[in-house]
Amino acid sequence: MTTTHHICLLPGDGIGPEITAEAVKVLGAIGERSGASFRFTEALLGGAAIDATGSALPEETLAAAHAADAVLLAAIGGPKWDTTSPDKPRPEQGLLGIRKALGLYANLRPVKIFDALKDASSLKPEYLEGVDMLIVRELTGGLYFGDRARQRSVPGAATGGGPGQRAYDTMDYREFEIERIARVAFEAARTRRGKVHSVDKANVLESSRLWREIVHRLHAAEFSDVELVDQLVDNSAMQLVRWPAQFDVMVTENMFGDILSDEASMLTGSLGMLASASLGDGTALYEPSHGSAPDIAGQGIANPLAMLLSVELMLRMSFGMAEAADALGAAIEGVLADGWRTRDIADASTLPQKMVGTTAMGDLIVERMRG
Ligand code: IPM
Ligand code: MG
Repeated sequence: MTTTHHICLLPGDGIGPEITAEAVKVLGAIGERSGASFRFTEALLGGAAIDATGSALPEETLAAAHAADAVLLAAIGGPKWDTTSPDKPRPEQGLLGIRKALGLYANLRPVKIFDALKDASSLKPEYLEGVDMLIVRELTGGLYFGDRARQRSVPGAATGGGPGQRAYDTMDYREFEIERIARVAFEAARTRRGKVHSVDKANVLESSRLWREIVHRLHAAEFSDVELVDQLVDNSAMQLVRWPAQFDVMVTENMFGDILSDEASMLTGSLGMLASASLGDGTALYEPSHGSAPDIAGQGIANPLAMLLSVELMLRMSFGMAEAADALGAAIEGVLADGWRTRDIADASTLPQKMVGTTAMGDLIVERMRG
């Protein structure tokens, strides 16, 4: 009997549709070899959804996501929808809205170095020795979801300065939110090298002091076999480029994780190589960590690998298809080892005839999997 996995596709904006097409192609090849089959429902999110419906997260999209076994999201956003007006819809509301609605509180971003790409990293190769880390980013709390407001006019007397606008965002965390994300990190560490860096700003922020307290309480109660290191976020930013191999699992709040994961992606050579899985209590969502790259959209040169690595995570974590996931991972590694590069991961040693676009990269991976 064939198992059919139902995937909700959210291609979004910019390069999103191009890399989604590669994911569908690769899943087709995986279906052939594994006997599993995939059924796709495509829905609108982000700018594309704003254009079509006026909302970045239409009801039908949410319903389609809920109905699927997993969601595969490409990227959202672009200059077309950029606005500083608090009253206009933004593509990002779609992404944040779906994360919240599906309860996806744990965002896992593995930072893995491909041997073939060591020269594409902005760090010297000797700094990359032994780098293999997992960033566990809290995804439904903190500044992204705290109380916020823009006040159009604050009288001068109240501000001590001239009259003008005022805006604020609040970093807000509850005990249970911290505990559940810390649990994800400790459990992941047990399957890896047994070490967790908990990143906060406890020397300044009250929410970080609560974070630290709860992480330590859980550690003492249930995970004392795992090594726990506290690190201040500014120090982590520096340590990531000074000695990245010290990290096994890094757990942190939403915005710190957003920033540090972009930084960490450069260890791999390109933001185009960083996959992610967002997990909660229900349907999981998989997406590359990069954005919609509007500057190169429609040119057929985007790197589809972060998307395909996200498919690998989906096969492994949502569908229990470890063998297919291994095969996909090996195919990606093999194609890179053979010297094939998209523009973002090319370097001086790349042969001109081995520079490929989005579709050709997808084809190479399919061929490699077919052996
Ligand atoms: C990410 C992105 C998003 C985030 C943006 C597009 C809202 O940068 O997934 O890292 O900040 O979470
Ligand atoms: Mg980001």
